[in-house]
Amino acid sequence: MTKTIGQESYENFALHYAARRDTKAHNAYYEQPAMLSLLPPVVGKHILDAGCGPGVYTEWLLRHGAASVVAVDVTPQMLEIAQKRIGDDTRVEFRQADLGQPLAFAQDAEFDLIICPLVLDYIEDWGATFKEFYRVLKSGGYFVYSAGHPQADFRFSASGDYFQTELFELLWRWDGQGGPFPIKSYRRPLQAMLNPMIEAGFVLDRILEPQPIAEFQAADPEDYEKLLREPGFILMRGRK
Ligand SMILES: C[S@@+](CC[C@H](N)C(=O)[O-])C[C@H]1O[C@@H](n2cnc3c(N)ncnc32)[C@H](O)[C@@H]1O
Repeated sequence: MTKTIGQESYENFALHYAARRDTKAHNAYYEQPAMLSLLPPVVGKHILDAGCGPGVYTEWLLRHGAASVVAVDVTPQMLEIAQKRIGDDTRVEFRQADLGQPLAFAQDAEFDLIICPLVLDYIEDWGATFKEFYRVLKSGGYFVYSAGHPQADFRFSASGDYFQTELFELLWRWDGQGGPFPIKSYRRPLQAMLNPMIEAGFVLDRILEPQPIAEFQAADPEDYEKLLREPGFILMRGRK
């Protein structure tokens, strides 16, 4: 399998990402509270954690009563970390898969809920991915994702053309974790986020441009002030 930009970006960065994932302000006090605020009750549900990374959401879902979780990621190093984090739990199935490709492991209408937190930025064309998510979701089920906000990420545009979907590379320094780590991802206009959802068949149910929670302030006062005024991430919830 040709390596995706997600795997290229995360295979050397996985351990460093995992080391700070639980406490880094942008995750713990910004994206995660926003994502959790959009989740329906998870008790007894069969859930796809699409792009599970080090398994933080998988663990949360299990702790909150999910019946079973299929945790998928393209980066083997991430799956290894997630497996260690979760330990032996028969409710979880880990799978290496590229979410840009058909989800051959999943049946039609298999899942009650699909979450995809901070993963889609590494996939160029969301159309095929969302059609697959729609296929494997039960009728009445929810799909919730978070991604870079189109306005925020436009500052990384090399072309200066808002309407393009563009690959860009950032050198991430990850608090106390060395680096810089080259991370490639795509920015895209808002219509390239919304239309693939609508075309796949989802009813767009909620859009959230979150603000950081209070704990962010002590962790990173400068970014806290910025994120109170400017968006960083965007979240969408669709229903089948
Ligand atoms: C920023 S991390 C987010 C991880 C996790 N969802 C979280 O919130 O902690 C991005 C994850 O997406 C995964 N990823 C990137 N491209 C992918 C693809 N095409 N298919 C599956 N996973 C992918 C990476 O390996 C990485 O684990």
